[in-house]
Amino acid sequence: MAFPRVASLKTHDEFVNRLRELGIDLESDAEVQSGESSVLAQAASVDGMRIGNRFCILPMEGWDGTADGKPTELTRRRWRNFGLSGAKLMWGGEAVAVRHDGRANPNQLCMTADNASDIESLRNELADAHFEHFADDGDLLVGLQLTHSGRFARPNEKSKAEPRTAQRNPVLDARLNIHDDSALLSDDDLKRLIDDFVAASVLAQKIGFTFVDIKHCHGYLGHELLSGVDRVGQFGGCFENRTRFLRQIVSGIRTEAPGLKMGVRVSIFDFLPYTKGPDGTGVPEPSADGRLAFGSDASGSKIDLDEPSQFMDLLKELGIRLVCTTAGSPYYNPHIQRPAYFPPSDGYQPPEDPLVGVARQIAATAELKRRHPDLFFVGSGYTYLQDWLPNVAQAAVRTGAVDSVGLGRMVLSYPDLPADVIAGKTMTRKKVCRTFSDCTTAPRNGIVSGCYPLDPFYKAMPERDQLNALKKEA
Ligand SMILES: Cc1cc2nc3c(=O)[nH]c(=O)nc-3n(C[C@H](O)[C@H](O)[C@H](O)COP(=O)(O)O)c2cc1C
Ligand code: SF4
Repeated sequence: MAFPRVASLKTHDEFVNRLRELGIDLESDAEVQSGESSVLAQAASVDGMRIGNRFCILPMEGWDGTADGKPTELTRRRWRNFGLSGAKLMWGGEAVAVRHDGRANPNQLCMTADNASDIESLRNELADAHFEHFADDGDLLVGLQLTHSGRFARPNEKSKAEPRTAQRNPVLDARLNIHDDSALLSDDDLKRLIDDFVAASVLAQKIGFTFVDIKHCHGYLGHELLSGVDRVGQFGGCFENRTRFLRQIVSGIRTEAPGLKMGVRVSIFDFLPYTKGPDGTGVPEPSADGRLAFGSDASGSKIDLDEPSQFMDLLKELGIRLVCTTAGSPYYNPHIQRPAYFPPSDGYQPPEDPLVGVARQIAATAELKRRHPDLFFVGSGYTYLQDWLPNVAQAAVRTGAVDSVGLGRMVLSYPDLPADVIAGKTMTRKKVCRTFSDCTTAPRNGIVSGCYPLDPFYKAMPERDQLNALKKEA
């Protein structure tokens, strides 16, 4: 199904009319303010920390670390770009594994004692770039995202899945060639892993990160545990057991790294895994089980925020104020996770206008914010709004639907968008991400990630031809 491209909606009225046509209730401000008093430039104070404005850079890895998990020049360039973006909140930089078997790819960063000084310099390069451009980093908050990739671990070879799962999941197991219980992590495995999260947090604190994100999203281990209704033992079944992993990590961090702040990035809803239908459009897997989707009703196709809201209560109980919301998984339902016009090479044509996906994430976040006003919410999934991103971002912050607007893909193609918006500059159209998905397609094919279509640096790389050839073949 073809949908009108956002780039063809030339005026704000045309954009708003398209939202109306789709029946989407999404606020968008006709005029975007600029300058110090503008909505998006307002500072916020969370848990004693000052965050200088309402833009946040979401974590994005580049599949470009060394084999032992240190950053390369490509990683450093991306983090410098995050620093010069103008955003004052850095949600984790990118997913960093707490140990080798939890790496999502053999080039993912790994938070070990051997790698600590390299990751420290990565953080410092980001902060230095920020200081050079904005002459103030006292209101810049930088966290590190800690992860174990669980079901989607590929620590040794790009082409070899080495899943460590929370529970059996017939549809996803079949995709990974899992036919028995051998991939399941035992309770003892999880206890050792909790220690690894704590050890990685201690290192993160030592090298200057203000907070760690204990990642619970996108189908990786923390997220899969939240949906572990069929898991037996201490970490599965009831809500209390499914959140034991988080609670024990938090308790360990409080003891071993006192003063370190924590945040959680969580998929606040999930749907059934999707697959390509007969005409290439995404359809839910017919045999999938809706019970295994955290934050959905039993059908696996409708949001149910009861448990995610209970999760927010738990965060408050644990003394955590920073929450970053996202949805689903880039592996099995990318259209809800990162709405795009063009699917990645292993994806499917979008089953809905991607604007619907953007609005779904914004509305679910707004509902949780309404129920939990004392938490600081960072939202995700705004990139598909393209030229109208600032308009919707401003309306979302102005109406209290979210506290900070997270930027993912947009910052790969247009790193200085937040600075431009706050300075009142006209957006540079040729830098606006058009959701070509090359930054996802490349790593799915063993190539480093980057914005090959729009970033002149990646445009000039030989990998671009390799990627284009692959896309032609597909
Ligand atoms: C290339 C790429 C790498 C990503 N890496 C991570 C990651 O390391 N950790 C994470 O939580 N999300 C990751 N994401 C998801 C983004 O943080 C974000 O949720 C998603 O792109 C949707 O936001 P957007 O519409 O602004 O792009 C990645 C996305 C992309 C495109
Ligand atoms: S490759 Fe560039 S234009 Fe395409 S989705 Fe990624 S950031 Fe956007």
